[in-house]
Amino acid sequence: SPSDPDLVERARAAKAKLGDKVFVLGHHYQRDEVIQFADVTGDSFKLARDAAARPEAEYIVFCGVHFMAESADILTSDDQKVVLPDLAAGCSMADMATAEQVAECWDVLTEAGIAEQVVPVSYMNSSADIKAFTGKHGGTICTSSNAQRALEWAFEQGEKVLFLPDQHLGRNTAVRDMGMSLEDCVLYNPHKPNGGLTAEQLRDAKMILWRGHCSVHGRFSLESVEDVRARIPGVNVLVHPECRHEVVAAADYVGSTEYIIKALEAAPAGSKWAIGTELNLVRRLANRFAPEGKEIVFLDKTVCFCSTMNRIDLPHLVWALESLAEGKLVNRIEVDKETEAFAKLALERMLALP
Ligand code: 13P
Ligand code: SF4
Repeated sequence: SPSDPDLVERARAAKAKLGDKVFVLGHHYQRDEVIQFADVTGDSFKLARDAAARPEAEYIVFCGVHFMAESADILTSDDQKVVLPDLAAGCSMADMATAEQVAECWDVLTEAGIAEQVVPVSYMNSSADIKAFTGKHGGTICTSSNAQRALEWAFEQGEKVLFLPDQHLGRNTAVRDMGMSLEDCVLYNPHKPNGGLTAEQLRDAKMILWRGHCSVHGRFSLESVEDVRARIPGVNVLVHPECRHEVVAAADYVGSTEYIIKALEAAPAGSKWAIGTELNLVRRLANRFAPEGKEIVFLDKTVCFCSTMNRIDLPHLVWALESLAEGKLVNRIEVDKETEAFAKLALERMLALP
């Protein structure tokens, strides 16, 4: 829907008043009405790096979800303040791994006698607590654009990986990109005693996958890939690695949101694409590339927006910017010092990956 012109004007005025004091980051899944005010847009990796590269900005307004704002706070200096325009913009996947559950899992691995061999690799889409656990136990963070390099690094440090919290990204990277087999992976269910696994299963596994998933990407099905291929002959199927394994296995290309955009930029005129990721991004890309004769469709009509990404709307952004312009700090995301120190270790390992 077109943005309210009055709100657009207010956002513009507040941003102009703040000048260099504010830096606005926008994830690719954000609404058009919000993304127009982003100083940079990116995938999770790019935004983490860009947040850290703006030491002069007193305020970082993060148009994205809670775990991204936490990561930005961890990577920026103490006197920089990270603001999330709506505190209810969480991530259902990140919520699937709590600090208590992960500590319990580590006890299970210790009981099975394998904790020494296990290196945790945590997806960016996790709370600061999980990142701190990861740093404390010698592991690294990864995003969808560097998961393979993160896993390769981890397997140089130890024999096994505990991958948190997205089972699909972990499995897809191990099996599709690194030649492991499905049998090398086991699924740890935090709601079952011992994760629902025997000590023997844990000892035999190379990848211990946490039973978490994205509620948006998890809804794309193999059937949606088959349907679109039947409907649009010659279509290229391009999906995000948070999709289920059978969907990724049936797709032509797999990658992060930034990868998806680059692939479409490089695509020839006349090519046809079905994209399996969040709807705000797919719509924006379909509109952007239609004049160049690239046909872009959404992979499955029953899948919808990420409801938490969508919580950041123009009214929330205007409120945050106007508050800051009046000298009122609102919705600050601040990770406590101890958590921050260990989480930073894990994030810096990711940033240092070759
Ligand atoms: P990327 O932008 O890193 O591909 O991540 C997608 C996502 O789900 C973020 O929540
Ligand atoms: Fe979380 Fe999925 Fe939304 Fe990304 S798209 S923020 S993983 S729920």
